Amino acid sequence: MGKEQIKKEIQKLREELDFHNYKYYIENSPIISDYEYDQLLKKLEKLEKENPELKTADSPTQRVGGQPLEGFETVEHMVPMLSLANTYTYDELRDFDKRVKKYVLDVEYVVEPKIDGAGIALLYKNGIFIRGATRGDGKKGDDITQNLKTIHSIPLRLRGNVLKNVEVRGEVYMSISGFKKYNSEQEKKGEMVFANPRNASAGSLRQLDPSIVSKRPLDIFVYFVSYSDIDLKTQENALNALKEAGFRINPLVKKVKDIEEAIKYCEKLEKLRDSLDYDVDGAVLKVNSLVQHKILGETSKNPRWSISYKFTAKQSTTRLNNIDIQVGRTGVLTPVAILEPVEVGGVTVSRATLHNFDELKRKDIRVGDYVLVERSGDVIPQVVQSIKEKRTGEEKSKIIPKKCPICQTEIIRSEDEVAVRCPNKYCPARLKWRIRYFASRDAMDINHLGESTIDKLLNAGFIDNISDIYSLRKEDILKLEGFKDKSAENLLESIERSKKQDLSRLIYGLGIRHVGKYASQILARKYTSIDELAKTTEEELKQIDGLGDKSAEAIVTFFATEENIALIKKLKDIGVKTKAEKKQNLKLQNKKFVFTGGLSTISRPEASDLIKQKGGIIASSISKDIDYVILGDKPGSNLDKAKKLNLKIIDEDEFKKLVS
Ligand code: IVH
Repeated sequence: MGKEQIKKEIQKLREELDFHNYKYYIENSPIISDYEYDQLLKKLEKLEKENPELKTADSPTQRVGGQPLEGFETVEHMVPMLSLANTYTYDELRDFDKRVKKYVLDVEYVVEPKIDGAGIALLYKNGIFIRGATRGDGKKGDDITQNLKTIHSIPLRLRGNVLKNVEVRGEVYMSISGFKKYNSEQEKKGEMVFANPRNASAGSLRQLDPSIVSKRPLDIFVYFVSYSDIDLKTQENALNALKEAGFRINPLVKKVKDIEEAIKYCEKLEKLRDSLDYDVDGAVLKVNSLVQHKILGETSKNPRWSISYKFTAKQSTTRLNNIDIQVGRTGVLTPVAILEPVEVGGVTVSRATLHNFDELKRKDIRVGDYVLVERSGDVIPQVVQSIKEKRTGEEKSKIIPKKCPICQTEIIRSEDEVAVRCPNKYCPARLKWRIRYFASRDAMDINHLGESTIDKLLNAGFIDNISDIYSLRKEDILKLEGFKDKSAENLLESIERSKKQDLSRLIYGLGIRHVGKYASQILARKYTSIDELAKTTEEELKQIDGLGDKSAEAIVTFFATEENIALIKKLKDIGVKTKAEKKQNLKLQNKKFVFTGGLSTISRPEASDLIKQKGGIIASSISKDIDYVILGDKPGSNLDKAKKLNLKIIDEDEFKKLVS
């Protein structure tokens, strides 16, 4: 290949990768597999390595580049990053509206969720991302370009031709699900956990090593163009332009005609708050017209054209009355705060997690302390810190117990983990959690078998094994406190119904270490019954795409344990379904597909899903090993290439028949 050709090839690969990155991270509808994406990236990496002079900072290969930094450089923002004045009542919002109308007439507003993360500024020159910085003191911040590049929803090059030279503001955040997953993995490894998603995002951006940042589940919503060399006219238009340029905009942003409509929408956002996978601590109102922004101007601290409305706080202080010790499903002892009941963001909280004994020690939280309690999203309430100023000297530290508080077995603490464990496999506390896990919504979904019912059943001695729940009789249940005819029947009914659950749920419900929901689904697809899974080898498991080595080991260990085999036998005898419904129809196994042109009755992501479900693969470009080219409306150059290679071309109807 000549230099010119290589340059073209590199250019093409970058565009392709940018496109697929956009599909995946902004539109959430990838059209190629992760594997194929990696292949393209590898190809580009190879070419850039062989031709270092063609490497550029905006190449998709540069997302996790760079060495750890010694420290961050301080940089000046193009436009100072002001903060917003806060309001707490709707009347204060009405006052704001009155102030605005002293200066300008015909005001429209844009209402946006106020994302609780870390505010940042992104600078683009000629459409290329050149610098990203933290807010700092508002005038100067830290240059965190390397860290921001690891966030795939930040475009390294802007799409289209509208925005070229801009400074963009946005909020980097960690999703609540990502935060929970990250913390639980950290806990397992015995490493530091973050107090909340906000600290997690801000803390991650302060990391000097971008390769660490790249492993954190960070994302961004952008919400303002603070500098632009073209007139964007309105906030609404600016957000649209940002979207077109490839940024992620919050889908709940709404333009309203006046303050009353804005207030109604604030109310709606506050109601939606708990259903979102990211923390929102309020709503932001912005005057829509950018000319009006200019007229309104700003005070030394805040713009006069915007204000934030803060939702009810999700933090409160209260007294920590005691520290209980809970023994979990795997025997791990967890300290739990027993609190003087307190309202936190509209919910009364009397228990909160303290994570583990190391955290307890690190935060120096003592019985009798006043503590700050926080609820974020649907995360279990947690104690953030103790308020040392309120100490009287009577407070007492909790020490790690020597014996399991439930079964009195001596506890163990291995070198490499923070976890303190009760080693007794038959500890009743463990059984309780195993049953709870088995019955949980993502497992066998026995919705009337909650924690308190399990407690009652265990205390009454009606169950001492998971399978015992299937032998419960109505007359037994009626002996439990709080059960009447109807509730007993409901419980029995939901237990009975669970016998027919999918194999993947049963696998998940068994609580095999390192086998979560996703891995269970993979296993249930590959193996047609629990017996087949039990017979498999570690080597075979390690070959399975999407299943880690740790999971493979844990599965083999699980099925090598006598009690587990006995449990499965019992479940089978009782009539619990242990086989997959039917062998998955994988008639398109390893067949490769390429789309060309738009489909009319089905979207590409839907069509891709159908192909993947049947074992097929979606490729992004034409080559001789493609099995089917799906022809839609206005096909691109792929069609000519396909014809040249004599590939099989099918239309939408034929495609539908193929996947039906
Ligand atoms: S507008 C001049 N919009 O809240 C423009 N800010 O004190 C000011 N924030 O520092 C920012 N969501 O970090 C704006 N939709 C949103 C926001 C938002 C979160 C943060 C941002 C800012 C702080 C306001």
